[in-house]
Amino acid sequence: MKYQFAHRMLNVKASAIREILKATANPDVISFAGGNPSTEAFPVKEIEKISGDLLAHQPISVLQYGITEGDQELIKQATAFFNRHEQVTKDGDQMLITSGSQQIMEFAAKILCNEGDVVVCENPSFLGALNAFKSLGAMLRGITYHNGQLDLEKLEAALSMEPRPKFMYLIPNFQNPTGMTMSLDVRRAVLKLAKKYGVLILEDNPYGDLRFGGEAVPSMKSLDEDGLVIYAASLSKIIAPGMRVACCIAPRDIIQKMVVAKQASDVHSNLWAQKVMARYLRDYDMNEHIDRISKIYKKKCHLMLDEMKKHFHPDVQYTIPTGGMFIWATLPDHVDMLSFVQKALEKNVAVVPGNAFLDDDTKECHSFRMNYSTPTDEKIIEGVKILGQITYEML
Ligand SMILES: Cc1ncc(COP(=O)(O)O)c(C=O)c1O
Repeated sequence: MKYQFAHRMLNVKASAIREILKATANPDVISFAGGNPSTEAFPVKEIEKISGDLLAHQPISVLQYGITEGDQELIKQATAFFNRHEQVTKDGDQMLITSGSQQIMEFAAKILCNEGDVVVCENPSFLGALNAFKSLGAMLRGITYHNGQLDLEKLEAALSMEPRPKFMYLIPNFQNPTGMTMSLDVRRAVLKLAKKYGVLILEDNPYGDLRFGGEAVPSMKSLDEDGLVIYAASLSKIIAPGMRVACCIAPRDIIQKMVVAKQASDVHSNLWAQKVMARYLRDYDMNEHIDRISKIYKKKCHLMLDEMKKHFHPDVQYTIPTGGMFIWATLPDHVDMLSFVQKALEKNVAVVPGNAFLDDDTKECHSFRMNYSTPTDEKIIEGVKILGQITYEML
């Protein structure tokens, strides 16, 4: 049978990362390709205790249907948590609990984009979001970096070009895949451009709390006074991605439209997970927890960077993150990145080819993404050494 799939799915390929991750099922492969929290970072005992308590004392409340907007106690706790350092929630805003922040990307495109509408994104950017936009018929217009920051001239050109974009998708903190952080000046400039051209911003901030160096930079949502920002906050990277709990904070009209989209999608997010998250946020010291896990990532990041410094050919450039989970390495122009990645896989080390994160993956790219949160310290040392040998063979 030849299946006739919808046109909007033609441009959406299986995620290159998922495909590489399949290769990493082989226990001999050292994977720097994933983006999972470290196994040491999960609050297992606490979640076990809360789950047991809830099931023993109020089982029906976690097993029954819930309301689409989200569990009221979680909304209360998450509002307090995400506003603890800065005012993210503004007058007239509402929160929607979603099944991971991936669902926020999907809903944003679902409620804002018609087939063929344009979404501006960083180039490179988070593949899961790009695929969500594409699967809903959106066209991507990618903006590259200039001196380590989003190129504002290119951004303005992309915002002013017809057809006008529906929104821009940005990851200002410890970006996936580059690990880079947008400066305060650039954040303010982007907001100014958003206002000038009437283009919304979808600000995705799953990594902001995983800071282990430098100073925190205010979110664009907190700086916005004009209802221009849809804020995606996730509990995946700081508590547990398997629970699929995230929060969207945005002007009420936008959230109300997302609520309708969610009713047509999954009715509401898993109530058991929401109630466990609410209790966790209420009963445990999140600052202490975040401090603990940020230290884990700091150590792993510095270990990977130290090993890269020791073993990589000096002509390979790479970002020095101060948070998050990723390093973005760039080979000189004369080296074929895909051959490098292939060679690495033959030697049982997996990294993600950088073109997977572009608005158009057929564009030339000399970069690849390395993750330090998932592998053990021993694997980081072993894997970087192997990659380093390949850099010397190929450069
Ligand atoms: C930048 C970015 N946004 C969103 C997500 C999705 O996270 P979740 O759906 O688990 O909240 C990820 C996951 O890797 C990510 O890297």
